[in-house]
Amino acid sequence: MDITAAVARGIGQPFSIEPVEIEEPRDDEVLVRLVATGICHTDMSMRDHKIYPVPHPVVLGHEGAGVIERVGKAVTKVVPGDHVILVSGACGHCPSCEAGLPVYCYHFNEHNFYGSRADGTSPLSQHGEMVHYFQAQSSFATFSIARERNVVRVPKEAPLEMLGPFGCGVMTGAGAIINSMTVDVGDSVAVFGTGAVGLSAIMAAKLVGAATIVAVDMLDSRLDLARELGATDTINPQKEDMAAALKRITGGGGLNYALDTTANMGVLRQAIDALAPRGTCGFVGGAPPGMELTIDVEHVMVGGRTIRGIIQGDSNADVFLPKLVELFVKGRFPIHKLIRFYPFAEINTAVEDALSGKVVKPVLRF
Ligand SMILES: NC(=O)c1ccc[n+]([C@@H]2O[C@H](COP(=O)([O-])OP(=O)(O)OC[C@H]3O[C@@H](n4cnc5c(N)ncnc54)[C@H](O)[C@@H]3O)[C@@H](O)[C@H]2O)c1
Ligand SMILES: [Zn+2]
Ligand SMILES: [Zn+2]
Repeated sequence: MDITAAVARGIGQPFSIEPVEIEEPRDDEVLVRLVATGICHTDMSMRDHKIYPVPHPVVLGHEGAGVIERVGKAVTKVVPGDHVILVSGACGHCPSCEAGLPVYCYHFNEHNFYGSRADGTSPLSQHGEMVHYFQAQSSFATFSIARERNVVRVPKEAPLEMLGPFGCGVMTGAGAIINSMTVDVGDSVAVFGTGAVGLSAIMAAKLVGAATIVAVDMLDSRLDLARELGATDTINPQKEDMAAALKRITGGGGLNYALDTTANMGVLRQAIDALAPRGTCGFVGGAPPGMELTIDVEHVMVGGRTIRGIIQGDSNADVFLPKLVELFVKGRFPIHKLIRFYPFAEINTAVEDALSGKVVKPVLRF
């Protein structure tokens, strides 16, 4: 079948809207007609080989939301017409997948970042030449092939065009607070970097009843939005000393939890240094293999502090996403405040607006 896709053809090159051919779904796959797709910072990092060298030409995009068009003959989870959010791929049978944590799949990279399905093939092509496939969906396109295991069914009453970002950025930030770090009533938490992931974390921290919620960013517009969404304090490190401000805000005791979304090792180090005894610092910022961090070993050991890498908020998407969607529908998790819609054809403007900080979460509508 012919579809229209935004093809990434090289590092730093704009996306180009082109016709692409897509295969019919295999037995365990589904064909999804995309209604909308979020753009995540990771899409730009992957196009530009800042994290992994996903081969070009590639159709990126991993925050798709759409309607099931056709299903393979072994599919039992969904039927045509179902509304779904697409999430990352996983093998389904390693110890992590069996434990309900597919985001820590032992084969996560082959299922998501090698530019193909795990078996090396791609459902996408142009004139017989392979077009690479990304994060088990390639959602910068009018249609997407996914496996039944990486689609999550959502109620038809929920506004589908807003749900794509739940599949990555929203689930990552909210899950980091709720699942990974289990932030609790009365806790103090600081979120470093208030993009889509950080702001989702702030909304989740408010939901679980954290008493002190500190937002850190260099963009005042994002700090204003963070306050609106639940931050009790904000720090712009370009305007004040971050360590001193964190000390003042926590009354000298330090943070129970810190979440770094900046992928800046200087910021991550400051987040760790600001932890209270028994505090935990989680980090999600996209780091390439080999990136190193120096820590003060004595500070981490004495006081029993924890440093924790997090993928996708430790989410079991089939269980966690419907809960977040319900909170959104009930007005208790206002992620629409992060979103600006763009027509699919304006993907390059949407990317520029995200990179300049003008918009938090661009969503392309088909
Ligand atoms: N681990 C995961 O599962 C996962 C999932 C989604 C995204 N990510 C990664 O998380 C990160 C955040 O994603 P996003 O979509 O929210 O990106 P984003 O670009 O919208 O947000 C990052 C924010 O950090 C701020 N920032 C950058 N450097 C800073 C500094 N030195 N001090 C203070 N603030 C600083 C930016 O101003 C921006 O607001 C990215 O690196 C992305 O690749 C990881
Ligand atoms: Zn993402
Ligand atoms: Zn697995």
